[in-house]
Amino acid sequence: MRICRSIPETRVALAGAPRPVGFVATMGALHAGHAALVERCREECATVAASVFVNPTQFGPKEDLDRYPRDLEGDAGLLESLGTDLLFAPEAGELYPEGFSTSIEVGPLGTVFEGASRPGHFSGVATVVAKLFHIVLPDRAYFGRKDAQQLAVIRKMVRDLDLDCSIEVVETVRDPDGLALSSRNVYLDAAQRKRALGLARGLRRGAQAWARGERDPITLAKIAREPGLDYDYLACVDPDSFRAPGPDGPALLVAAARVGTTRLIDNVVLPATIKGCGP
Ligand code: PAJ
Repeated sequence: MRICRSIPETRVALAGAPRPVGFVATMGALHAGHAALVERCREECATVAASVFVNPTQFGPKEDLDRYPRDLEGDAGLLESLGTDLLFAPEAGELYPEGFSTSIEVGPLGTVFEGASRPGHFSGVATVVAKLFHIVLPDRAYFGRKDAQQLAVIRKMVRDLDLDCSIEVVETVRDPDGLALSSRNVYLDAAQRKRALGLARGLRRGAQAWARGERDPITLAKIAREPGLDYDYLACVDPDSFRAPGPDGPALLVAAARVGTTRLIDNVVLPATIKGCGP
């Protein structure tokens, strides 16, 4: 596996690489969720490129940029073992040199739910992903369902800006107890982890109600609410617009909650009703 720290080095290394080139963007501290993206990419693409970059522009001033877990050596070892061909791991100054000022504005989708709790977050995500796409020039890029609103933002950016890259989705990887894997789970102590399980448990309850035929978004959100959890938001939304869902789905139950000082997000897909088969 080739490790590149600079943009020109990455461009040269990927010029003429066998196509399709697949790409997995990450902020490192890799776990089995990231690995699932790389594995899918390896199965479907001739060249696998990954990035590890803790992107400062997507963190708010009071967020965990400084304490975000970093382990480039461990990440490189895992990526290599999964058959990654190239790892792009730049320093912040490589992507944001002195005087950098241009950014992507994502519109209303960037200001609700995660965007409301984290102003500027999705502009930071869209900007860095657009930059990474222009450096790697992937044919396909793999993103996790776990960050459902991020996925919607990136899909919309690709459509709106005519980016020539298909966006592939990988379902959320969970620990056996149901907790969605996240680099931030390392912040949780045992008692907090136990409380955090309520997030996924509530969402599962909502999905079961949907499967039994409940279609009212407010009722579904009520059913999914776990008592004692400190929610930022919990709602039933359309997976693309994050506005009110259509009556037959598909929809998403999305939630964010604080457990101690850690903020966790999760979601569950409420599949579309197939006419004549569903409730
Ligand atoms: P990061 O949180 O490292 O996640 C990188 C990718 O891994 C994202 O597509 C995310 O959805 C996916 N992922 C994380 N946990 C997952 C899980 N449990 N199951 C499946 N996929 C999972 O998301 C980012 O980094 C950044 O915002 C980034 C896109 C790299 C831009 O900086």
